[in-house]
Amino acid sequence: MNILILGGGGREHALAWAAMQNPKCDKLIVAPGNAGIAEIATCAALDIEDGGAVAEFAGENAIDLVIIGPEAPLAAGVADTLRDAGILVFGPSREAARLEASKAFTKELCDASGAPTAAYAHFTEEAAALAHVRQGPFPVVIKADGLAAGKGVIIAESLAEAEAAIAEMFGGAFGAAGAEVVIEEFMTGEEASFFVLCDGRDVLAVGTAQDHKRVGEGDTGPNTGGMGAYSPAPIMDATVTARALDEIVKPTIAEMARRGTPYQGVLYAGLMIEDGAPRLVEYNVRFGDPECQALMMRLGAQALDLIHACAEGRLGEARVSWAEDHAMTVVMAAEGYPGAYEKGSVIRGLGDLPEDSFHMTFHAGTATREGAVVASGGRVLNATARGASLGEARDRAYALVDAVDWPEGFCRRDIGWRALG
Ligand code: AMP
Ligand code: GLY
Repeated sequence: MNILILGGGGREHALAWAAMQNPKCDKLIVAPGNAGIAEIATCAALDIEDGGAVAEFAGENAIDLVIIGPEAPLAAGVADTLRDAGILVFGPSREAARLEASKAFTKELCDASGAPTAAYAHFTEEAAALAHVRQGPFPVVIKADGLAAGKGVIIAESLAEAEAAIAEMFGGAFGAAGAEVVIEEFMTGEEASFFVLCDGRDVLAVGTAQDHKRVGEGDTGPNTGGMGAYSPAPIMDATVTARALDEIVKPTIAEMARRGTPYQGVLYAGLMIEDGAPRLVEYNVRFGDPECQALMMRLGAQALDLIHACAEGRLGEARVSWAEDHAMTVVMAAEGYPGAYEKGSVIRGLGDLPEDSFHMTFHAGTATREGAVVASGGRVLNATARGASLGEARDRAYALVDAVDWPEGFCRRDIGWRALG
């Protein structure tokens, strides 16, 4: 099978790595890829948000399956163009991708399907939004409706903060994404991520994870795309998992099918769990990054079989074979991230790291310059390891971190603290 993966971060490196473990994978192309991906696959320059260009490239390269990593091409309808061209694709249609691209759409869908989530109101006018928050209570959660690269959510502790957030969103700070605003009840509890494959009809749970969004140790400081993650999430025990499937995910999938816009791909449910009851925080229509790195380390080669079955609508017959294992990924980022950071610093020591089914250092933002690997993004490397316990996975992941020679990088030393106790 010839496979094309769209994307160029740590998530796509992990997807490529899992695909390459599987003997079914003949040719693997990743667009645009990065320096780490280039060691195991062919990287191609391609505008991955241009569905026509992707379809043409897939045709020229005899691609049998396209796996779409990030949300932007999904929201742009690349999966639709590929399906129309008769190309097998893993990833939802533009209409189904609204589960991530519009918060108001998702809230309305929760209403229609009865999925538990925070109480909310939806506004297209600043004055009405301001009148709403003036009634309290606080904290209150203010969200830009559209895609805002993880920055469109503000937890306002006071009326002044809420008013400022609303003014900022309607003032255009998030562009078109903030033209509509959702205001939500603040939920308490513990967060976890739940990943489910859906083929439009059947669903298959493929793992749980928890990530650390804040840049600083002890979960402090500004939000990032994620500084580390581990799988499984201890809070997602069998009962909570079954409730999340039955009360949230399956009703969503059924409602999408009923509307004639079936969901196909991976659905990432961000959950808030309190007293054993899960509620939906948000959906994403792709694997989490860096959660995917931990999930792929656990699934290995079977990930490709599951993705393939999902794309072909055969999930009903698919099973996951689980090991009693744990995985952790630690993000190494460029000094300054998530604020301003330098690009181009040289990373040494990567060639000496162990690479096997227990250790992989995935590349998130790297490039090659004059034969050296250099940092080319904020999040740069994902030291990922698997073990019989979370503690063992952690020790192995940090051993990888410590063997990388990159003075301009940093990481959090406390990934997994909550689960490790
Ligand atoms: P989102 O982009 O919707 O995932 O929001 C980002 C983060 O904001 C989530 O991971 C939560 O930590 C937090 N958050 C979002 N909505 C709520 C809510 N209604 N109650 C409490 N925390 C929330
Ligand atoms: N790690 C969070 C995300 O991928 O959205």
